[in-house]
Amino acid sequence: MNKMIFALILAVTSINSAFAATGNVEAGKTKAAMCAACHGANGIGASEAFPNLAGQHADYIVKQLKAFKDGTRTDPVMAPMAAGLSDQDMADVAAYFTSLNRSGAAAIADSGSESASQTAAVQAPVAHIANASAGKSLYELGDPSRNIGACIGCHGKEGNSEVLIYPNLAKQHSQYIEKQLHDFKATTRINFAMNQFAGAMTDEDIADMGAYLADTQAVANVKVKRVATVAVITEAAIAGKAKAVMCASCHGADGNSLVPIYPKLAGQNAEYITKQLQEFKSGARKDPVMAGMVAALSEQDMTELGAYFASQKPTAGNGSTSMLGQQLYFGGDASRKITACIACHGASGKGMAKAGFPAVANQSVEYLTAQLTKFKTTVRDNDRNSMMRNIAKRLKKNDIEALTQFMSSMK
Ligand code: HEC
Ligand code: HEC
Ligand code: HEC
Ligand code: HEC
Repeated sequence: MNKMIFALILAVTSINSAFAATGNVEAGKTKAAMCAACHGANGIGASEAFPNLAGQHADYIVKQLKAFKDGTRTDPVMAPMAAGLSDQDMADVAAYFTSLNRSGAAAIADSGSESASQTAAVQAPVAHIANASAGKSLYELGDPSRNIGACIGCHGKEGNSEVLIYPNLAKQHSQYIEKQLHDFKATTRINFAMNQFAGAMTDEDIADMGAYLADTQAVANVKVKRVATVAVITEAAIAGKAKAVMCASCHGADGNSLVPIYPKLAGQNAEYITKQLQEFKSGARKDPVMAGMVAALSEQDMTELGAYFASQKPTAGNGSTSMLGQQLYFGGDASRKITACIACHGASGKGMAKAGFPAVANQSVEYLTAQLTKFKTTVRDNDRNSMMRNIAKRLKKNDIEALTQFMSSMK
C-alpha cells in the first residue's frame, strides 16, 4: 500500500516537472543574454525580423521554444537556439521575458514600419497601401463568407489576449506579423485554426492586418464595418428543393420549423448540414429520428439538401437578448477558459461555412439548449477535436440559459 502511494507521488511529481517547470526570472535573465542579439536585452526585437518577446505570455513562449526544438515549428535561426535549452531553461527565459514591459516597442515599431513601407515601395511600384482601418474590421469581425475567424475572439481586444496560450499581437513588428501570416498561409507554420484563417486572407488583408496591429491606437475611433454575405441559388439548391419535401413535416418547407425542438435549417451552412446528414447516417451523431430519415439518402442527396436549406432565409428566433449571454458570446471568460463563441460562430452568428462551423443566430432557444447540454454531457460527440465539448463542459446552467437566449435573438 505504502509502495503504491509512493509510486503515485513519484508519478505526479514527474508529470509536474515534465509539463510545468516553474520559471525563475533572475535565472532567466542570465540565460536570456544569448537571445539579446536578436530579441534585444529588453525583449524588444532588434529589427522588424525579430519578434518582441517582452510582455508575451510565458506559456506561449515555452510552447514556441518546444515547437522550435522538436521541429513542429521550423525556423533555421531558432532551431539551433532552442535545441540547447532544457525545460527549466525555457521556463526561466519565459518568466524573464514575460516580466518585461512591451511599451518600449512603440517607438521601434514606428520607425520600423516606415522603413518597411519604403522597402515595399522599392520592390513594387504599384504597391497596395496598407489600410489599418480595413485591418481593424477584419480583426474584430472576421469574414464568415471567406471562412476567416474574428481574431479578437482569441487574440483579445487590440491584440492583448487574455488566454495564455494565444499570443499577444499588440505592439508586435508589422513585418513579423505579416511573415507569420504568410507562413500560416503556406502551412510552413502549422496551427489548425491559423492555417484556415490565414489561408483565406489575401496579400492585401495581411498587409492591412500588419498595419493595424503595429498601431491599434491610430484607428481607435474607426467604426468597424460588417462584411455582408450573399446566398447563392445554385443548381444543387434547386435539385435539393424537391428532395426536401420529406423533411417538411418537422423542419418546415423552407427550413423554418414551427416546432422549437426541431432545428431550423434555413440559412444554415451547406457544408455543416451535409456533415450532419453524413454523421446521422454513419452513427457518429446519434438521433433515432434522424437516423431513420437519412438511411436512404445518397451523398449527392445530402449535398443538394444542404445547398437548398442554406439558400433559404431564416425567420427570427424566439430568444430575447441577454447581457450575460452577449458578454460570453463576444468575450468568453478567460478565468474559466471559455473561448469566445464569436471566434468560430462569427460576429453575426452565421458561423463559418467552409470550416463547417454552424450558424447559431435565429435558431430556437429549445434546440440550442438541447445541443449545448448534449455537448456538455458528451451525448453529442461529433465535433472535431472536441471543439464544442471542451467549451460546453465549462458552461453552467445559467450560462447556457443566457447564451441560448442571446444566440437565438441574433440576426
Ligand atoms: C540570431 C537571432 C536570434 C537569436 C540569437 C534568438 N532568436 Fe528567437 N527568433 C529569431 C527569429 C528570426 C524568430 C522568428 C522566426 C519566425 O519567423 O518564425 C524568432 C522567434 C522566437 C520566438 C517566437 C516568438 C513568437 O511570437 O512566436 C521565441 C519565443 C524566441 N524566438 C525565443 C528566443 C530565445 C529564448 C532565445 C535565446 C535563448 C532566442 N530566441 C534567440 C531570431 C533569434
Ligand atoms: C480560434 C482561435 C484563434 C483565432 C480566431 C485567431 N487566432 Fe491567431 N493564433 C491562434 C493560436 C493558438 C496561435 C499560436 C499558434 C502556435 O502555437 O504556434 C496564433 C498565432 C497567431 C500569430 C503568430 C503570433 C506570433 O507571435 O508568432 C499571428 C500573427 C496571428 N495568430 C494572427 C491572427 C489573425 C490576424 C487572426 C484573424 C484573422 C487570428 N490570428 C485569429 C489562435 C487564433
Ligand atoms: C420526424 C421529424 C423529422 C423529420 C421528418 C426530419 N428531421 Fe431532421 N431533425 C429532427 C430532430 C428531432 C433533430 C434534432 C436531433 C438532435 O437533437 O440532435 C433533427 C436534426 C436535423 C439536422 C441537424 C441540424 C443542426 O443544426 O445540427 C439536420 C441537418 C436535419 N435534421 C436535416 C433533415 C433533413 C434533410 C430531413 C429530410 C430528409 C429531415 N431532417 C427530416 C427531426 C426530423
Ligand atoms: C473553436 C471553434 C468553436 C468555438 C470557440 C465555439 N464553437 Fe460552437 N461549434 C463549433 C463546431 C465545429 C460545431 C459543430 C460540430 C459538428 O460538426 O457537429 C459547433 C456547434 C455548436 C452548437 C450546435 C449547433 C447546431 O446547429 O446543432 C451550438 C449551440 C454551439 N456550437 C454554441 C457555442 C457557444 C455558445 C459557444 C461559446 C460559449 C461556442 N459554440 C464556441 C465550434 C466552436
